[in-house]
Amino acid sequence: MAGRLIEIDAISKLFARADRGSTLTALENVSLDIESGEFISLLGASGCGKSTLLRILAGLEKPTMGAAKFNGEEITGTDPKRGLVFQEHTLFPWLTIKGNISFALKASKKYADERSKIADWLELAGLSDFANSYPHQLSGGMRQRAALVRALAVSPDVLLLDEPLGALDSFTRMNLQDELIRLWESRGNTMVMVTHDVDEAIYLSQRIVIMSPRPGRIAEIIEIPMSYPRNRGSSDFTEFRTRILKMMDFAKDPQEDYTI
Ligand SMILES: Nc1ncnc2c1ncn2[C@@H]1O[C@H](COP(=O)(O)OP(=O)(O)OP(=O)(O)O)[C@@H](O)[C@H]1O
Ligand SMILES: [Mg+2]
Repeated sequence: MAGRLIEIDAISKLFARADRGSTLTALENVSLDIESGEFISLLGASGCGKSTLLRILAGLEKPTMGAAKFNGEEITGTDPKRGLVFQEHTLFPWLTIKGNISFALKASKKYADERSKIADWLELAGLSDFANSYPHQLSGGMRQRAALVRALAVSPDVLLLDEPLGALDSFTRMNLQDELIRLWESRGNTMVMVTHDVDEAIYLSQRIVIMSPRPGRIAEIIEIPMSYPRNRGSSDFTEFRTRILKMMDFAKDPQEDYTI
């Protein structure tokens, strides 16, 4: 069921800078509509406001100007319908993997209805044998898979992913990209993913939003009309990669200082 799920309407976000009593424009006049069921990525250099935009969509941060709407209503706080996965897994270290998933279900008041499905989720993530293990007993890739299924288990309408695979080695990362696609295709939910990785964005997304830094703006939106699963070696893929890298060099600000 397609339809507009998220509307981002002329959002700007300013942060006070403690050092000089001035402000930093993290986002400037960002507008974007996201369709229900879409896989969309935000791609851009460090500091261009990707996480800030995602945190606004999660309801963790308020825009200074403009508004973001979810299902036609302004986003004013967090909601289990909008799940968030951070770059660093945020599993509770004192709970087992199964305990972490149960906790998420209880927090969103779905435990009674969904507890029987926990085993399926663990199976899907390839973690059945580790249900009773604690996060520190798992590898980084397994922890990240656990964090992903914990977020998915509460069936969010939209999953906001802030570089969910950023900390992983390239092989684990490619395997998890395939899993993400599988999960997305089987659940039919909306995915909004932040990434630095051009190949990851092309491999996963139907649309890529390229952002440019200081102030953070949308530089370009590129549609990737390739069917899934995608072939990283195909000529279409390579063409998109070349095109996007060109744009990003063009959009990139090589200076890392915050001089205005
Ligand atoms: N809470 C905050 N207080 C002050 N400044 C902030 C805050 N959060 C973000 N910023 C600033 O806003 C800008 C955008 O930050 P943001 O974290 O959104 O970037 P990003 O695109 O996610 O970068 P990265 O790719 O490095 O994660 C940066 O210049 C950052 O210093
Ligand atoms: Mg970030």
